[in-house]
Amino acid sequence: MAPLTTLGVGGNARFFAAAKNLRDVEEGVQFATNRMLPLFVLGGGSNVVVSDRGWAGLVLQVGVPGIEERQAEGKIFFDVGGGVDWDDFVAHCIARDCAGVECLSGIPGSVGGTPVQNVGAYGQEVAETIVSVLAFDIRDNGVRELKAAECSFSYRNSIFNSSDRGRYIILRVTYALTRGGRPSLRYADLKNYFAVHDAGPTLSQIRAAVRTIRAQKGMLITAGDADSRSAGSFFKNPVLSAAQHVELTRRAMERKFEVPSYPALSQRKKISAAWLVENSGFRKGYVKGRTGISSKHALAIVNLGGAMAAEVVALKDEIQERVERTWGLWLEPEPVFVGF
Ligand code: EPU
Repeated sequence: MAPLTTLGVGGNARFFAAAKNLRDVEEGVQFATNRMLPLFVLGGGSNVVVSDRGWAGLVLQVGVPGIEERQAEGKIFFDVGGGVDWDDFVAHCIARDCAGVECLSGIPGSVGGTPVQNVGAYGQEVAETIVSVLAFDIRDNGVRELKAAECSFSYRNSIFNSSDRGRYIILRVTYALTRGGRPSLRYADLKNYFAVHDAGPTLSQIRAAVRTIRAQKGMLITAGDADSRSAGSFFKNPVLSAAQHVELTRRAMERKFEVPSYPALSQRKKISAAWLVENSGFRKGYVKGRTGISSKHALAIVNLGGAMAAEVVALKDEIQERVERTWGLWLEPEPVFVGF
């Protein structure tokens, strides 16, 4: 499965099928049920770590195509197949002069994956634009439309990766965007970019800026950039309780460090995981066998070429343990672990 993922690790799938439509999905589910095989639903493979043993059941890659546009309630609604490449959809929206997802340019993976972890970057989250999700419900064996409110979106979280994990196969996502809407400029990196480059950016300028910033951080999949062979951020930014925040500040003062605070993070008492990693004795470009920490961003674990999943996990463990020892905080991984 390694070639089906951006991190490039993982053994074989016992069975594999690509589903292009609802019928394929139903057949796949039937196949797995009849043989009592575990089912794993794969999208763009940009947020998964697959074990070296692979998957002892059926891997169903959902590739439902198509982007349809309609007007409703003063907005532009896009019904988008789960298999559509996310960044192609963002480019499509911008070409149609529709605002709402421009800051999510350059994120790898497919549309169907975006509600699962409520994809977000540079001040936007898909939760702001998703209206509903059409999914095949494995439990009740039928198609169901879930309204955004039923998805319980929060930071990198939804019912799809928490309470109802494994229950739904996402077929289509509906987003509501604003034609002629103003681009979103909330995140410090983006504001700084335009402070230097331009005063009133257009949607396509935002898109170009986000892609440039992502590329500088190794977070844009680019041929020849070894730092982009990753699963993106490997850890979530921890959300701290008041007591944890006090303890962190105490430990930082002891070390004469200042804990960075950014509006986007401090709002929700979130602390930068990258900062914790870098201030626990790791540096960007740290190498451990065939894996390492990206030379451009401390939060990405990279495959330096031919790495095994076990090596990725060993580095993950080392980072978690050292951060815990130094800061008393346990970093929660952000990607999905498959077959462990
Ligand atoms: N920082 C460091 N070292 C680094 C990088 C960052 O100390 O190597 C500190 C700095 O203080 C920096 C702060 O972390 O100002 C924030 O860094 P950045 O803007 O790169 O964002 P992030 O919090 O590390 C999050 C998301 C990314 C998303 C960016 C931009 C998570 C886990 N990650 O990263 O999402 O692209 O913000 O919005 O929330 C992903 O989920 O895979 C992902 C790439």
